[in-house]
Amino acid sequence: MTRRSIVTGCGRYLPKRIVTNEELAERVDTSDEWIQQRTGIRERRIAADDEKTSDLALNAAKEALISAGINAADVDMIVLATATPDETFPATATRVQAALGMTKGAAFDVQAVCTGFIYALNVADNFIRLGQADTVLVIGAETFSRILDWEDRTTCVLFGDGAGAIVLQAHEENDDLVPRGILSNHLHSDGRHHDCLYVDGGPSSTQTVGHLRMQGPEVFKHAVNNMASVLGEAMVANNITASDIDWLVPHQANKRILDGTARKLKLAPEKVVITVDRHANTSAASIPLALCEAVADGRVKERDIVVMEAMGGGFTWGASLIRW
Ligand code: ACO
Repeated sequence: MTRRSIVTGCGRYLPKRIVTNEELAERVDTSDEWIQQRTGIRERRIAADDEKTSDLALNAAKEALISAGINAADVDMIVLATATPDETFPATATRVQAALGMTKGAAFDVQAVCTGFIYALNVADNFIRLGQADTVLVIGAETFSRILDWEDRTTCVLFGDGAGAIVLQAHEENDDLVPRGILSNHLHSDGRHHDCLYVDGGPSSTQTVGHLRMQGPEVFKHAVNNMASVLGEAMVANNITASDIDWLVPHQANKRILDGTARKLKLAPEKVVITVDRHANTSAASIPLALCEAVADGRVKERDIVVMEAMGGGFTWGASLIRW
């Protein structure tokens, strides 16, 4: 019998305020046409002034617990991926833990920017497979609106706020011929690319929060190559081809990156879950938001092959392959 992690619940939360491209065009020199053509983004959600990353995370976590049919008391661990924590410390995960009324287990944050959810999922999966946890809440939550330079048109149009959460639980099966659950994880980073995408502040450097800075075209080039290569790695590890993939749930940065990756892999575009048009890039929240949408509307069904993949600042990139 093999012990694996399966997803038993999904939840999402988006702030109420919708900001359209037209609204941004009133603040910076841009247009709906430019943003849609270059990125596929139509609108994004922006957190209210009193809404913190932990608030977004908490709402998504509550929905995930309800959909899994469990209580917060059943959770052994919270792993929360974010690059926009409420505070430098303690971890935002501990805020969520307290708000859920949990007093046992462990809660901590993982930071890999847009690849954060894949890293968090891998960490949680390892805890479960080792028998150190049975039930883990894995959350991706961000308020990137707080680290954007709202006068920089090359970055402020690309991002949004949101949170997604899943419940990951231990599962053992006798019939291991067609195993369910997370079948493989693949993580990478290459710190030499720091200057392509970073925040120009932080407690140890400037003692300020700072703003996101990015060399867009450079990031674009690496994103398509790295995402296609890590997807190839996941397929080889599981002895499958692109035609075996039922759903690709990519990090939602730019529709052109998603189309380019699918084209490179000869993957049918209708198999790619897309939310970037409505959410923009929500960093670590984008994969669980897209995944939970595809689960809620019935696209993802039991035993489907679902591949998630991401690339972000660092650079970091990675993929997880699940038989649902
Ligand atoms: N509105 C109007 N014009 C703009 C805007 C804007 N919002 N932003 C840039 N421009 C201008 C530039 O100033 C430039 O003008 P110039 O030719 O007069 O100098 C022109 O448009 C072209 O700029 P490029 O940067 O070359 O445009 P490109 O086609 O590369 O698109 C973009 C830019 C959308 C940022 C693209 O490079 C991209 O998506 N890169 C990936 C970035 C990304 O997704 N980062 C997210 C984090 S990492 C990740 O999640 C994978």
